[in-house]
Amino acid sequence: MDNGKPTVLIVTRDTKDFQELEGYLRDSYPAMRAETIEEAYKALQWGKTKICCVAADAALVSEHSEEAGCLCRTMLRQAPVIVISGDGQSELEERLLKEGAAEVLRKPFTQAVALRRIGNTVQNHAQIGPGHLPPILHQLFDAIMEDNNIHSKKHLIRVIYYTEVLLRCVWDKTGKNQPLDEKTISQMAQAAALHDIGKLLMPDKILQKPGPLTRDEFEIIKTHTVKGCEILEYIKTISQEPYFSYCYDICRYHHERYDGSGYPEGLAGDEIPLLAHIVSIVDVYDTLITKRAYKDAISHEEAVQMIRNGQCGTFAPELVECFIKVCNELHRIALANMD
Ligand SMILES: [Fe+2]
Ligand SMILES: [Fe+2]
Repeated sequence: MDNGKPTVLIVTRDTKDFQELEGYLRDSYPAMRAETIEEAYKALQWGKTKICCVAADAALVSEHSEEAGCLCRTMLRQAPVIVISGDGQSELEERLLKEGAAEVLRKPFTQAVALRRIGNTVQNHAQIGPGHLPPILHQLFDAIMEDNNIHSKKHLIRVIYYTEVLLRCVWDKTGKNQPLDEKTISQMAQAAALHDIGKLLMPDKILQKPGPLTRDEFEIIKTHTVKGCEILEYIKTISQEPYFSYCYDICRYHHERYDGSGYPEGLAGDEIPLLAHIVSIVDVYDTLITKRAYKDAISHEEAVQMIRNGQCGTFAPELVECFIKVCNELHRIALANMD
């Protein structure tokens, strides 16, 4: 079915729609079908067919009305979503476009329109990576991605996606008077990938140690927060740019805790920059649900419970509330982007 070629995933219960689209696409893209949203998620999971575009029936998506936006955005992170719609669905189309869908394809289909919409959408889909950051930060991004002692690439990708989701939720709750534009959201989320750049300066033998760290080793590791900022400060050309402060705050304060028990400065409550606090909770979540050299993975449910109970340090109550609200979306991101 896929022959290793990028494939269009058509999400519909309507066999006629599927066959028609599959026939139109045949010379350009292989197509596969999912008849439910659950099947679509499974098809998108890492290690399976490379999906370059999801064409999803609007009515089917809207059956999950609570989750429609989340569905579009989650899928969009793997592949852009085109909404298949028909007469009388313009309100639904608008809503799904607002919530992340990339394009609309109306029935009845014609080959020329279907191919053009899908082709353009595939081409326009931004590659995963620091698209809105300047070249010097791309280099840092690459350096930390390449250094397997620090983090897996997938951890960084997941942290970017989680940060984006939680940031939108937190902003929706608290920052309505100051809307965030898409470029800012993207820069803030991508800056999250740099949270541990200070570890580039940490000794390999500590980073690679399979067991728990000694007190002295932990004191050294704690300095990765401040060292990360030293790396950023060294790059004078970016010091006036807004993303400099996003990167700086995240590097320095992503181990602070709401009750002041974190490091390096022991900031408490609102003293902790919000973006850094968002990154810290999603970083903890990802650490819990993945296997590391020094520990096994635990389940999503256990991880959420531990964070809710404050067993991984305390976070702002409103932040925990938002985290609980979006945790299913975070879980889907994790499943789709596992190492
Ligand atoms: Fe860290
Ligand atoms: Fe991390």
